[in-house]
Amino acid sequence: MHAALEGEPDIRARMERFWPIAEACLERVYGSRPDCEAWLQCIARVVREFAAARPAELRARDQAAGQWWRGRNVVGYSAYVDRFAGDLTRLQGRLPYLKELGVAYLHLLPLFKAREGENDGGFAVSDFGAVDPRLGTVADLQTLARKAHDTGISLVLDLVCNHTSDDHAWALAARSGDEEYRDYYLVLPDLPTVNAYEQCLTDVFPDVAPGNFTYSEPMGGWVWTTFYPFQWDLNYANPAVFCEMTAAMLRLANMGVDGLRMDSAPFLWKRRGTDCRNQPEAHWLLAAWRALLTIAAPGVVLKAEAIERLEDVTSYFGDNSAEPECHLAYNNGAMTALWAALSLGDGRPVQSLIEAARSKPPWGTWLNYVRCHDDIIWSALTPYLDLEDLNRCSSFFSGHGSGSFAAGTAFQAVAGVPPSTNGMAAALVGVSDDEPDSAAARRLLLLYGVSYALDGVPVIWMGDEIALGDSTAREGDGSAPHDGRWSQRPFMDWRRADLRADGETLAGHVFQQLTLYGRVRAAQPAFDAQFAARSMRSIDPAVLSFVRGEGSAAVQCIANFSDRARTAGFALGGNGWLDLLSEDVGRGRDVDLGPYQVRWLVTHS
Ligand code: GLC
Repeated sequence: MHAALEGEPDIRARMERFWPIAEACLERVYGSRPDCEAWLQCIARVVREFAAARPAELRARDQAAGQWWRGRNVVGYSAYVDRFAGDLTRLQGRLPYLKELGVAYLHLLPLFKAREGENDGGFAVSDFGAVDPRLGTVADLQTLARKAHDTGISLVLDLVCNHTSDDHAWALAARSGDEEYRDYYLVLPDLPTVNAYEQCLTDVFPDVAPGNFTYSEPMGGWVWTTFYPFQWDLNYANPAVFCEMTAAMLRLANMGVDGLRMDSAPFLWKRRGTDCRNQPEAHWLLAAWRALLTIAAPGVVLKAEAIERLEDVTSYFGDNSAEPECHLAYNNGAMTALWAALSLGDGRPVQSLIEAARSKPPWGTWLNYVRCHDDIIWSALTPYLDLEDLNRCSSFFSGHGSGSFAAGTAFQAVAGVPPSTNGMAAALVGVSDDEPDSAAARRLLLLYGVSYALDGVPVIWMGDEIALGDSTAREGDGSAPHDGRWSQRPFMDWRRADLRADGETLAGHVFQQLTLYGRVRAAQPAFDAQFAARSMRSIDPAVLSFVRGEGSAAVQCIANFSDRARTAGFALGGNGWLDLLSEDVGRGRDVDLGPYQVRWLVTHS
């Protein structure tokens, strides 16, 4: 049956169009190897097989997909399965909740079989094809995908492509002396070699997992471990690794997954004498994957997890439209700038990032967010703020410094680098009571109000929609008591979520405001993805102002990052304005803003 399908005109046409792109990229990476041609054939075979095996309902979905992730109606939600719902089956029962919140894109953090004990929140994968038995089975995942699709929700999962767990079958084989599998990993023979590499590398977890190599007795050398010692980096210089991970990617696509978060993409290629991040080969591999995915599962998107400086992040969309890489990328610059702006009472950091983000190529789409399961890394703002300001932001959010309202914690203290910040958004904005209109509540809604108005997909981190606070216990398998990121990975509080219809409660107020943002956004053509945010000059540094869309359909977003009332200028045409969020109207150019207020303005004559 597969052979017959393989001959299908659609697949053949896509193969003809996109295989040459993949081939060109892979030749750049592997062309000097005598076995390059054989590997290319092997990869082509894998792609044809998965293309042929793609279930009919997913082929129909591919055809109808269009550019679904660019729709102004798409709001995302990101969560751990166990923390949000318990397991995959029970998660089905939570889809109506997500729908009510306006969610059309659900990103579930790693749910594949991970190593026992510490596993970096599931990011140490032992089997890319098996679901963690505590969460369910592959059949449960497929059912969830189907149910999500029926509800109008696309499903996005992590592809942890940079490393495997040290108990993955490949790692076990390597440890038992199998030379073929040893070459799936990077093993350095001695300390001088390790030190030669280390000189140019930085640590991702300097406190909790210092160094980039781990000595392994059975491997007789130092295994490359960028993250935790139990996460072994894959050796992409070996085409067998690329081929295996292509199969892993396409297997997920054929299970009904609509998008893949390419975890730790900047680290895929190592080159001595460099920091081993963002190397050209990492980009060629991603461009090859994009082309292969377009052949086998054209409705599925790639999302870059590249928490780097903006200039490096935009390159994950691909430098030219003929060789695109990821469809989506985290806008971590804007996210970090939002928090910096809040602590400094100054909108200019966000304004700088909006200006810089205009270098994004038109075929790429941002993923905008306020918080996620990881820490806020201040060094992403190095080109825009000086070290003193970044240190100020960092200590502000751990509750130090004058006027701090925040109750976060500092993470990863190393000399010369501002410690990053942990904590749920509610903790960082200083929520301390259930008051729906407190300054803290306004701060939370300010950040989400800006995030929803930027160009791209806004993604809610689980619990923010009810102003959920930090995790009180570091319970759960795979958690590491010393890794402070577990603060922002609480269990969902469904009793609190039950208050969502009651606008007199904080949870209800925030939930209703976020759904309002989503509704208003969906109704305004100015929020279409092609209209990049254009920052406007604001006389008052506390006020951020930017415009989306053009002409009479344009929307101006103004956001007051200070705790005092301010006046801002209406920048669109006409004699008056209407705030789509509060429904306030005004004449002339002056617009009043309460402390931490955000407004989305249109012309109102
Ligand atoms: C990504 C994840 C993070 C994880 C790391 C290693 O950055 O977001 O949680 O620790 O990759 O897989």
